[in-house]
Amino acid sequence: MRLSHLSAGIVALATGITSAASTFKPTRAPAYPLLVRSPYLNSWLQGESGGLLPGSWPRFWTGQILGWQGFVAVDGATYNWMGAAPGPQNVDQVSVEYTSTKTIFTFDVAGAVTLTATFLSPVYPDDLAKQSQQFSYVSLKAKSSDGAAHSVQVYMDVTGEWTSGDLSQTVNWEFGTSGDVSYHKFFRANQQVFTESGEIASWGTWYLATSSADGLTQRSGFADDVRAQFVDKNVLDNSADSQFRAVNDRWPVFAFARDLGRVNDQEEEVVFSLGLVQDEVISFAGTEDGMTSLPGLWSAFYENDADAMTAFYSEYSDALKASDALDDKIQRDSVAAAGQDYATITTLAVRQAFGALQFAGSSSKPYIFLKEISSNSDIQTVDVIFPAYPILLYLNPDLLRYLLEPLYENQESGRYPNKYAIHDLGTFPVARGYPDGNDEAMPLEECGNMIIMTLAYANRSGDIDYLSQHYSKLSQWAEFLVEDSLIPANQLSTDDFAGTLANQTNLALKGIIGLKAMSRIARLTGNDDTFGATADDYLRKWQGFAINTDANPPHTTLSYGDNSSHGLLYNLYADRLLSLDFVPQSIYDMQSDFYKTVALEYGVPLDTRHTWTKSDWEMFCAAIAKPDTRALFISLLAKWIGQTNTNRAMTDLYDAGTGGYPAGGPTFVARPVQGGTFALLALP
Ligand SMILES: *[C@@H]1O[C@H](CO)[C@@H](O)[C@H](O)[C@H]1NC(C)=O
Ligand SMILES: *[C@@H]1O[C@H](CO)[C@@H](O)[C@H](O)[C@H]1NC(C)=O
Ligand SMILES: *[C@@H]1O[C@H](CO)[C@@H](O)[C@H](O)[C@H]1NC(C)=O
Repeated sequence: MRLSHLSAGIVALATGITSAASTFKPTRAPAYPLLVRSPYLNSWLQGESGGLLPGSWPRFWTGQILGWQGFVAVDGATYNWMGAAPGPQNVDQVSVEYTSTKTIFTFDVAGAVTLTATFLSPVYPDDLAKQSQQFSYVSLKAKSSDGAAHSVQVYMDVTGEWTSGDLSQTVNWEFGTSGDVSYHKFFRANQQVFTESGEIASWGTWYLATSSADGLTQRSGFADDVRAQFVDKNVLDNSADSQFRAVNDRWPVFAFARDLGRVNDQEEEVVFSLGLVQDEVISFAGTEDGMTSLPGLWSAFYENDADAMTAFYSEYSDALKASDALDDKIQRDSVAAAGQDYATITTLAVRQAFGALQFAGSSSKPYIFLKEISSNSDIQTVDVIFPAYPILLYLNPDLLRYLLEPLYENQESGRYPNKYAIHDLGTFPVARGYPDGNDEAMPLEECGNMIIMTLAYANRSGDIDYLSQHYSKLSQWAEFLVEDSLIPANQLSTDDFAGTLANQTNLALKGIIGLKAMSRIARLTGNDDTFGATADDYLRKWQGFAINTDANPPHTTLSYGDNSSHGLLYNLYADRLLSLDFVPQSIYDMQSDFYKTVALEYGVPLDTRHTWTKSDWEMFCAAIAKPDTRALFISLLAKWIGQTNTNRAMTDLYDAGTGGYPAGGPTFVARPVQGGTFALLALP
């Protein structure tokens, strides 16, 4: 592909016509993750770009532009490889590829140089120190593509837009060096801890860093001036603008340029890191009285922010090795489980899932907090952790414990009055809980979720003590399931955009499986099992209420007795995940045979209220389906990824008929529930 493109490029040069036909591997994503490592380092190339980085502004997940400009000069002529600053013509994008941790763009610069830009956001499932850092890498590699040596300079700048959702805020900046690392440090003058503006943190310090190598120049100043200087001279004058001003006051930028000298067919590489450091990350109502300010977990491992920043930059080659290994593992395991279409799905989900997590606390008491990105910014939403958790069970079940911990601490401290499990802990980044019990009630949903996830963690980690530690809450929630799971009251399920409903078949099954899981927990912890017999009895009765046996083919209904309805019975997945051997195989087979008959162009509808579906729940169903139905779910979702006209960081809610956003429904963006696409890989 590349060779033919290059020869086309040479022809184009001769004729003055440019070609711009990028290839997309493994498919064209709705939006490409650029630097995505936390709720605040969460940048994307959105779909309206056509998947082309030159000429498009990267955006925060909300859609806010993040000023971020890249140029490359070859033999004195300057080209644009990223961003929409006016002036230099765009390079030709040859290809873009995503892996679990990387997005890799390849550009043809004037038929003379191949430039590769790799956006690497490592995921370290087993290394809390490294995972707690809110930094990512950009690697730029240049080499000659026509056999001749060329003079090459590369350029990158960022604006203050990264530091504030309110663009009228003043940004401060400073250039510095630390060891072998040169950096631009920039931050909102008015630091407001635990406050967001337009979802962007109003506190913390940003760093753009690179190696203090020969040929490095830098500058801060007005965007137009700094960029023009590089375009004209292919070098920066190392001057500092000392007039701190508003982000949108002629857009102060912080820029680096690097002269790579004469580049032949040996690749030259420049690495940048970009990210932020926050001393305190979460305000939490836990075991201590009042609110506790939790430090970023990074501070348990690094002396100060400069130390953290330089450590991250300096470990690039290890980060690349670890990321290559993780990419290979996820690719291999996904293909082995269900083929390349499945890998197309899982590999796009990894950074999105981890990008909603904030690591806090100390090395002896780590916590992970999750932001319910885009739906309403709740913190620690139980029914968002639940769809996301397959990726954690697959990569490291301890991560699930660190997410459950704040929920247990808050509720076990007597800070929540209801007999059922809490829905969330507040609005990110303030985990205040609900002392008045007035959270968005999803009683059956969250009681089932907490019991199922806690057993899943204990089983995968072997940490049976954890079940004993929390037995009192677990059995309280199980008592609620005894009351409410067989005949569920009118209530919300996790799919709350669809409204409340009584007797929800799938919700009831979650509660009943939750009771069976509690029976297992009681036995594992040496308690009396008062739950198993009830679970068995309820399951028998549920089969009587839940199934339309006259339908052809028969299937469960959305709610009891509503014979014309149906839905994805995704809560069945927990039975298989926990190896409960509880629900008869005939139910699995019946649903499997049925789903095929109601599939639309891009998936199987969530239920009969809409033609909408959810990618996470589809993959829960696929994981426990017969091979042909599993393949159908997976191929339709992979097709959707490549064809959908949704343009934001992969939505989990879409119209299974049109592939677009749900008409009249919410627009979901960048939600961590995509971790649920790992449902097949989390099975025992
Ligand atoms: C996890 O569950 C499986 C299936 O019930 C069981 O075989 C295994 O022993 C359990 N592991 C632990 C550590 O409890
Ligand atoms: C729920 O289902 C049960 C069992 O079929 C039925 O007795 C009850 O009337 C239903 N409740 C509602 C509100 O439909
Ligand atoms: C729904 O179907 C069941 C058989 O699956 C039948 O017994 C029941 O009468 C039907 N209910 C209604 C309201 O038609």
